[in-house]
Amino acid sequence: MELKEAIEKRRTIRDFLNKDIPEEVITYAIENAFKAPSYNHMRDWNFLIIKSLESKAKILQAEKMDQNIDLAALEKLFENEDEIKKAMYLDAIPKQKKMILEAPVIVMVIFKPKTSVKKAHSVYDLNCLASAWACIENFLLSLAEHDVFGVTFIPQRSESVKEKFGIPKDLEIAAIIPVGYKLPDARVLMQKPIDISERIHSENW
Ligand SMILES: Cc1cc2nc3c(=O)[nH]c(=O)nc-3n(C[C@H](O)[C@H](O)[C@H](O)COP(=O)(O)O)c2cc1C
Repeated sequence: MELKEAIEKRRTIRDFLNKDIPEEVITYAIENAFKAPSYNHMRDWNFLIIKSLESKAKILQAEKMDQNIDLAALEKLFENEDEIKKAMYLDAIPKQKKMILEAPVIVMVIFKPKTSVKKAHSVYDLNCLASAWACIENFLLSLAEHDVFGVTFIPQRSESVKEKFGIPKDLEIAAIIPVGYKLPDARVLMQKPIDISERIHSENW
């Protein structure tokens, strides 16, 4: 597949088909993920693959995702927001729990931090996270090549997630990615149109 085609095909999907993904597809995406640029040349990344309902439940417990969403309150919260952004959040927030439970595979991308998140003072201190995201993008593009999609969920209680899964304390979770084929009527939200010419600056801002 042409690079451009994979880039355009990759979109965030939160509505998954109940269908297994061949192991080779995940392995291929991880191989490509490891080809991403890495700030210290060490590619200090690990992938934790989860399929069982028990493990999915552990994520939900760690993240305290057992409460029901009040849709009216959610609507109110976003009433003054950009319409495209609001449409994304109103679709995404109620699906966070469901997408974790229904995706056939969940992939956690774990990295070794250079500076702990709490002690980071500059973008430079976040090089380790930036590299992990380069790796995540390669992973997602490679899945899209096989019509498999994901959604990058970022844990808010990552210490608790780490503890439940025995992830070493000195490592961090970059993203928890529910992965699967999309339902025929899966929502693919409109991307905000960007006039690229307004974002390209020459010589000076
Ligand atoms: C750093 C980052 C964090 C994100 N966190 C979440 C998340 O916690 N839950 C979720 O459903 N989507 C999350 N997303 C997915 C975004 O909502 C999605 O990428 C965005 O709406 C653009 O849509 P697209 O990926 O289809 O282009 C995240 C994406 C990024 C890059």
